[in-house]
Amino acid sequence: MPRSQNAKMPTPLNPPTEWRERLATVTLILGDCREVLKQIPEGAVDLVLTDPPYGMNYQSQRVAVEKRFAPCLNDAELPDVIKLLNDISAELYFCLCPDGHFYCFAPTQNWPEFNEVLGDDFDLKNTLVYLKGRGTGDLHGGSYTPGWEALLFYTKKDLGGAWSPPRKLNGHPCDVLKARRPAERIHPMQKALDVCEQLIENSTQPGEIVLDPFAGSGTTGAAARLCDSGPRKAILIEKDPDCYAAALARLRCHGPVVTEMPQ
Ligand SMILES: C[S@@+](CC[C@H](N)C(=O)[O-])C[C@H]1O[C@@H](n2cnc3c(N)ncnc32)[C@H](O)[C@@H]1O
Repeated sequence: MPRSQNAKMPTPLNPPTEWRERLATVTLILGDCREVLKQIPEGAVDLVLTDPPYGMNYQSQRVAVEKRFAPCLNDAELPDVIKLLNDISAELYFCLCPDGHFYCFAPTQNWPEFNEVLGDDFDLKNTLVYLKGRGTGDLHGGSYTPGWEALLFYTKKDLGGAWSPPRKLNGHPCDVLKARRPAERIHPMQKALDVCEQLIENSTQPGEIVLDPFAGSGTTGAAARLCDSGPRKAILIEKDPDCYAAALARLRCHGPVVTEMPQ
């Protein structure tokens, strides 16, 4: 049976310890997450934190003039992104440990469409607000400039297998997260490092594993490494070779990066 059809089978309560131990602190894989996710054992990651393409044909007018960034891969149309999320939702369920958390950044206007797909496998616990610091002025000509994005916070649905109640958040975090925008961006949709760090701190313990299937510039990996309470391990997947190269260079400033999954 293909793995994706098997994804709703019981997730083992004891994650594959040996594989987790062999995993490097940061693993960055060049490839399509629809394929690469299949290399991760069942229940092996503690947190999914990701920022998919938004399907808004996004390209900042300002940066387009500067010609700094090409449009994001798979960002052309909302239906393409919905299909992509649909393709990987069951895989993410499969990879995530029974009590794990899942955060997904989502566009201001279209987060309900994101939730319609992810809600088959995951329970929406909160719609967090990610305050970007300043509006992105060129997405919806004639409308207010969005200064926030949705951040969907999920736990695994009880689908009848070896499910366990979701872990508690560390502390009592507020549902509004204020970002300090990155001073120098290397990706058109780069998220704030401090917000990603906070989410990882809220949902994991030092040494646990964070997965980001849409890595972009590698913000999730940098955040996992820099957590105040101690580094987490990170698995990052990026399909665009240019973004991958930029993420690799960025992450190597913080320490070694492995580019293959443990066998
Ligand atoms: C919104 S961006 C992520 C930005 C990231 N959060 C950051 O701070 O840099 C989404 C990324 O997903 C990548 N992507 C699109 N389709 C993909 C796929 N099928 N597999 C892996 N990566 C993909 C795009 O190239 C893009 O870099």
